[in-house]
Amino acid sequence: MTSGMSREVSDTVYAVVAAAGSGRRLGRETPKAFVDVSGRTVLERCLDGLAAAEAVDHTVVTVPADMVDDVRTLVDRQRPLWGAMSVQVVAGGGERIHSVLAGLHAVAAHAGVPHTGIPDGGAGGESGAETVVAVHDAARCLTPPTMIATCVETAREGLRTGGWAGVVPALPVTDTVKIVDAAGVVRSTPARETLRAAQTPQVFGLHGLLRANRMNEAREELDSAHPTGLVPGPLATDDSSLMELAGERVLAVAGDPQAFKITWPDDLDRAVRLVEGEE
Ligand code: C5P
Repeated sequence: MTSGMSREVSDTVYAVVAAAGSGRRLGRETPKAFVDVSGRTVLERCLDGLAAAEAVDHTVVTVPADMVDDVRTLVDRQRPLWGAMSVQVVAGGGERIHSVLAGLHAVAAHAGVPHTGIPDGGAGGESGAETVVAVHDAARCLTPPTMIATCVETAREGLRTGGWAGVVPALPVTDTVKIVDAAGVVRSTPARETLRAAQTPQVFGLHGLLRANRMNEAREELDSAHPTGLVPGPLATDDSSLMELAGERVLAVAGDPQAFKITWPDDLDRAVRLVEGEE
């Protein structure tokens, strides 16, 4: 485990932006990250926010495979807008988890860190500095830059001191949440004060997150190999859950209502109103 062990943390901070979703729930032909929000696409606004945080040196964006060339051209044209932050574009995958992993592999290559078969304890070697990576949803394109900077700084502190292996920004939930079975029957009601709604960027050590991904892949392989599904597990919808499953300690820090995810048409309307100063 990464937590509990203090280590040197590299000054270079990476981000992976998951922008390869189809955005079917938004009801548009265009993939969600390329939908316009008052003159700039969701992805452009997301990159604007990451650059404005002044906390990230290199961002890897994962996009639908058939859009890689076009997005590279778009990104190249806008490079000066993002100051010191460089941006790289790679193809994502069929599920968010696969897109993020493609991005993490590109980060590992950029950082000169092996991404397969790393022995426990050492991205960049046991004694090497840990690389920090912030995983962000393009769809949370109005996330305040100050929140991004705080997430990165708090994650760095945890990695440096060994106190925690990463952070997830989160908000208390206002609804009472039910756990239901496949038939919709309510099974239980978790105590509301213990619940948080997770946002992004979620920030971890690269080694810890790659290791958690490998463990999850092994679990899925084991599950699919067994006729009765001995080790069933949900498809991870965020990166923190992989770290939690891998036994890592993740700290929840304050999220922000503006870091909401554009999912439904109403969310897009809200984003437009916020950008145009009407909300
Ligand atoms: O589908 P959802 O809204 O949870 O997606 C969250 C983020 O993950 C979005 O920014 C979306 O573009 C991205 N994603 C991805 N690859 C996928 C599915 C979603 O990068 N296959």
